[in-house]
Amino acid sequence: MRTALSLLSFLAVSVLILAPMAMADGYSQPQDYQPPAYRKPADGLAAGYYGESCPDMEGIVQRAVKKAFAADYTIAAGLICLFFHDFAVGGCDASILIDAPGSEKYAAASKTLRGFELIEAIKTELEAKCPKTVSCADILTAATRDASREVGVSYWPLVYGRKDGRQSRKEAADKYVPMGRESVTDLVAFFESKGLNVRDLVVLSGAHTIGKASCAAVKPRLCKNKPETLDGKYGDFLRRKCRRGDAEHERVELDGVTPTAFDNGYYKNLERRMGLLETDQKMLHDSRTRSFVQEMAREPEEFKRQFAESMRWLGNVQVLTGSEGEVRSKCSAVNY
Ligand code: HEM
Repeated sequence: MRTALSLLSFLAVSVLILAPMAMADGYSQPQDYQPPAYRKPADGLAAGYYGESCPDMEGIVQRAVKKAFAADYTIAAGLICLFFHDFAVGGCDASILIDAPGSEKYAAASKTLRGFELIEAIKTELEAKCPKTVSCADILTAATRDASREVGVSYWPLVYGRKDGRQSRKEAADKYVPMGRESVTDLVAFFESKGLNVRDLVVLSGAHTIGKASCAAVKPRLCKNKPETLDGKYGDFLRRKCRRGDAEHERVELDGVTPTAFDNGYYKNLERRMGLLETDQKMLHDSRTRSFVQEMAREPEEFKRQFAESMRWLGNVQVLTGSEGEVRSKCSAVNY
């Protein structure tokens, strides 16, 4: 009996000591956690990549994002969306930032993207301090993490060393970036093609807990009269709102209940048939995604933690490293 009690107290003390250690970086994974195969660290990226060449890189990005957020909190949604669009076409290589005729920036999918000027301003500051060193892909990745922190997402540690791509084609953005009309099967296939899974799809879509969409993106949902997937009052509100003005410029909150809080309200809205985009609402009604939607609706803290975790891996997808790509001098143009 005494041996059993000692064993129990040893276990209790171990849990008390080890749990905070496991949570220290914001991730509560068990000590023997092994990332799934698709989450192996990307070769060529390292935490201390700019340790000698640009030691204050993270500080410079963080201060700039903080200042921009204080002036306009909607920049957080802008940066998170920009980062996702970059990832969607050829991975995180800053191809979305290239400003040239026919580049991704000029795709229909990019019409409402924001944050380009902030990333360029950070680049200019970094070029002054550490010339030709920090890639635009790393700047966008770090700025998105810091913007997410500003809205209350858990911290996630980053590795650096991404290089910038030299290709950017608007046709590719229009082909690959999800626009809100896809089926769940299309979205699952798209995420899986990038090494992310169904849970990542549901969790990352939770970014739609902040930000706005244009009425043009909402129209497909309104045209179909399906009361079983659209709350009546919410549908009437959207029809009224989107009747005014032109569909491109009239904007609606993605989370109609708590539009500025990065919370799990997005999932609760789906349960109330109040998802703004058709693709969002479909995730409640599809057997592959429903249980994750319900889990995130129940577990607000788990959502924020899991969002950070999925974003961390999203930033490692299809990165160029080593002698691949380049470090651009300006984020808006490839080097000549
Ligand atoms: C899974 C499929 C997804 C679809 C179909 C989708 C679609 C859309 C659409 C149509 C808009 C509105 C664009 C407009 O009319 O202005 C939007 C906005 C937004 N999306 Fe997504 N998205 C998806 C996933 C994601 C992911 C994974 C993230 C981030 C991790 C994200 C972050 C955002 C943000 C923050 C906004 C608001 C932007 C702003 O306020 O400027 N989306 N998305």
